[in-house]
Amino acid sequence: MKIVAGGIKGGSGKTTLAANLAVMRAREDRDVLLVDADDQQSASEFVSLRTEEMDGDPGFTCVRLDGKAVRDQVQRLENKHDDVIIDTGGRDTTSQRAALTIANLLLVPFGPRSLDIWTLERVEELVEDACAVNPDLRAYAFINRADHQGNYNQETRDVLTDSDVVDFIPETLGNRKSFAIAFDYGQSVVEYTPRDKKAIREMDALYDTVFDIVPASE
Ligand SMILES: Nc1ncnc2c1ncn2[C@@H]1O[C@H](COP(=O)(O)OP(=O)(O)OP(=O)(O)O)[C@@H](O)[C@H]1O
Ligand SMILES: [Mg+2]
Repeated sequence: MKIVAGGIKGGSGKTTLAANLAVMRAREDRDVLLVDADDQQSASEFVSLRTEEMDGDPGFTCVRLDGKAVRDQVQRLENKHDDVIIDTGGRDTTSQRAALTIANLLLVPFGPRSLDIWTLERVEELVEDACAVNPDLRAYAFINRADHQGNYNQETRDVLTDSDVVDFIPETLGNRKSFAIAFDYGQSVVEYTPRDKKAIREMDALYDTVFDIVPASE
């Protein structure tokens, strides 16, 4: 699988998602390549931290790539790994567009906020452009940092399920401090102690759904 954590909105949870998926996949004895395609380099920082914490072995490989190299280098590297997870920046960048020309799956986190939802149309355009060269690309949205209460989650769900271009994954990640704290220790939320059972359950459910999606070409 070649999975892109992407979208147009900054701070939606792309790097948190990419880091958690990479760690969790590697824990299942898969050979994972995490590609940091964001010039902010948060994924690389996560892996540096993780490498220190884990006495030199983060459990997977991480490379930093930029622009069209995201496409070209991933094509060269993909056969050496079981799964490739690509973290992109919070804008419509050449790197993200390059990643989408070769990916099976785009995952787009949306916060339950109108500012996030307003980017859906641009995400749809991005996906349509990518599908013109990569018809096998499948795009999925899910809600990240869901509210504990109120109507915003449902309103966001309604908008996202309405899209003809982006499918909706109903598994949601709540707004939970443990995602941020675990990340700062170079860990996935499923590794971090004290265990946040709700966060682990949510992340496990999202992980299972994502890796159950069969690539369109199969
Ligand atoms: N489910 C969550 N619960 C609580 N905090 C979260 C959650 N997901 C992400 N965060 C926090 O939100 C902030 C932004 O998350 P993250 O860096 O993953 O977003 P991003 O989309 O990669 O941002 P950028 O566009 O800058 O690359 C971080 O501080 C992160 O710890
Ligand atoms: Mg990021």
